[in-house]
Amino acid sequence: MTRRYTVLLFGFLLLLNIFSDLEAQEIDWWESAALYQIYPRSFQDSDGDGVGDLNGITERLEYLKEIGITATWLSPIFESPMSDFGYDISNFTRIDPIFGTLDDFDALIAKAKDIGVKIILDFVPNHSSDECEWFKKSIRRENGYEDFYVWHDGIADNAGNRLPPSNWVSVFGGPAWTWNAERQQYYLHQFQDKQPDLNFSHPLAREHMQEVLKYWLDRGVDGFRIDAVPHIFEKINDDGTYPDEPLSGWSTDPSSYDYLDHIYTKDQYATVELLYEWRAFLKKYQSENGGETRILLAEAYSSVETLSQYFSNGTHQGAQLPMNFNLMYLNGYSTAEDVVNSAEYWMNTMWKQHQTANWVVGNHDNSRVADRMGRHKVDLLNVIVNAMPGASVTYYGEEIGMGNVPTECTPISCDSRDPERSPMQWDLQANAGFTKGDTTWLPVADDYERYNVQIERGVARSTLQIFKGMQQLKKTAAFKAFKQPGGFSYNALTQNVLQIVRAAANSEEYRVLVNMGNKVERIENLADKTMEYVLLTIHSPHNYGDKVDLSGSFYLMPYEAVVLRSRT
Ligand code: NOJ
Ligand code: MG
Repeated sequence: MTRRYTVLLFGFLLLLNIFSDLEAQEIDWWESAALYQIYPRSFQDSDGDGVGDLNGITERLEYLKEIGITATWLSPIFESPMSDFGYDISNFTRIDPIFGTLDDFDALIAKAKDIGVKIILDFVPNHSSDECEWFKKSIRRENGYEDFYVWHDGIADNAGNRLPPSNWVSVFGGPAWTWNAERQQYYLHQFQDKQPDLNFSHPLAREHMQEVLKYWLDRGVDGFRIDAVPHIFEKINDDGTYPDEPLSGWSTDPSSYDYLDHIYTKDQYATVELLYEWRAFLKKYQSENGGETRILLAEAYSSVETLSQYFSNGTHQGAQLPMNFNLMYLNGYSTAEDVVNSAEYWMNTMWKQHQTANWVVGNHDNSRVADRMGRHKVDLLNVIVNAMPGASVTYYGEEIGMGNVPTECTPISCDSRDPERSPMQWDLQANAGFTKGDTTWLPVADDYERYNVQIERGVARSTLQIFKGMQQLKKTAAFKAFKQPGGFSYNALTQNVLQIVRAAANSEEYRVLVNMGNKVERIENLADKTMEYVLLTIHSPHNYGDKVDLSGSFYLMPYEAVVLRSRT
């Protein structure tokens, strides 16, 4: 009797122990999330005006569910003169009529909650539009708004002429200071002159921006992607002057952003602290209102060491996902070794400090993968970003292999980034099913009849099928076990063959093998086991379910990517 109870008790304790272990390794939703960026102007038009809108997104939410997306972040949908297509906001808590109404937004949130897709909004704190009420008040030096933006008289040269306060250049090129005739001062803008920088040393600016966060949290959003994080604070001398930045040596053109080394206008420590402040605000909101973790994605083209600070300094926490853009620097010649080096750069800093990884495929500011790396490498990159541990971030259309669409300047748009913002390719209808109208704000790709959702749904091993397959794998226990010892590893087996292993103790092991090169690769004695093919790209001669004995010779065709599985 006693013995039986002892055994039972022992068994119970063992179970408890296992559960607490599991709990310790449990990951929050965002840590293995499949994130998807929607550029609202280009996703789906519902009213026939040729510009995408909120009702269009709502119509297409089921699609996001179908392809396995956890959360989608929307580029700005707020009231804007559209000088930078919504990144110039004139009212931070109003929906721009081109996108719809607040009711449309509420309906989108309701549907998203219903089907279980999280919604993340773009938060653009660095600047507003020059048509924003706050800027107008600041120009008029209205009470409380005098220093809401960054103003300065400028400096005098030897001949007594007035010059801008410093040599700073804007990200888009040309001086970062513009003279305002009405206020008789210069204002700072790190982007267009129609995007004046807010002064975050000013309590009212901080307060207003926090209210913006609260407004959208109250309407049910799951987090924010923070725009242009590195640019939020600038260095100011004690005497109120601004220090010139040193020449970088990378460019001989004084109007180019690359001309200067941005030691005073990028990644100032106050910006790191501001992120901690926003995260604390989100946490407090969550503790008061319940619900799942609200997240911050940070857009920062900064060193990994700086991104690590944006994540946390050990004491304070900032953005859960400071976006990792390093894989966007791969090109058509990149090898498996390059992928490993790029990943190491991130993992050696972030991962070692227990900071979750994320992998970004592309965005509305950069060339599409088909153009950056070549069409035959789109699947490879989609496989890689979803096979690495952590969150993946896909730019709309990359899951079907959309390419850049050459554009000419029109009265609506003339931006070097237009080619990667072309309308989503849904089906075989006119304008790829993006709009019922006759025109689209940017041209639809000529090859949309080949690359679209409808066609790719029906074609085995299409880019869409590979993407969906990877999302299913991302949800398995083995792919979610990346915090357990032995949960993952990656290496270059040869210069061109990348291997990523994902495993959960006592269940399954997956091996993701990617041939980045244009030659057949042979790998000898990869492992002492037989594995099964569970995902195959178009370049693979195998069938799903085929077995391969890895103790012998294993072959990969040019540009072939496969996933193998074994159960233990
Ligand atoms: C980064 C955004 O992604 C880009 O599109 C925009 O022009 C700048 N920030 C300025 O807001
Ligand atoms: Mg529309």
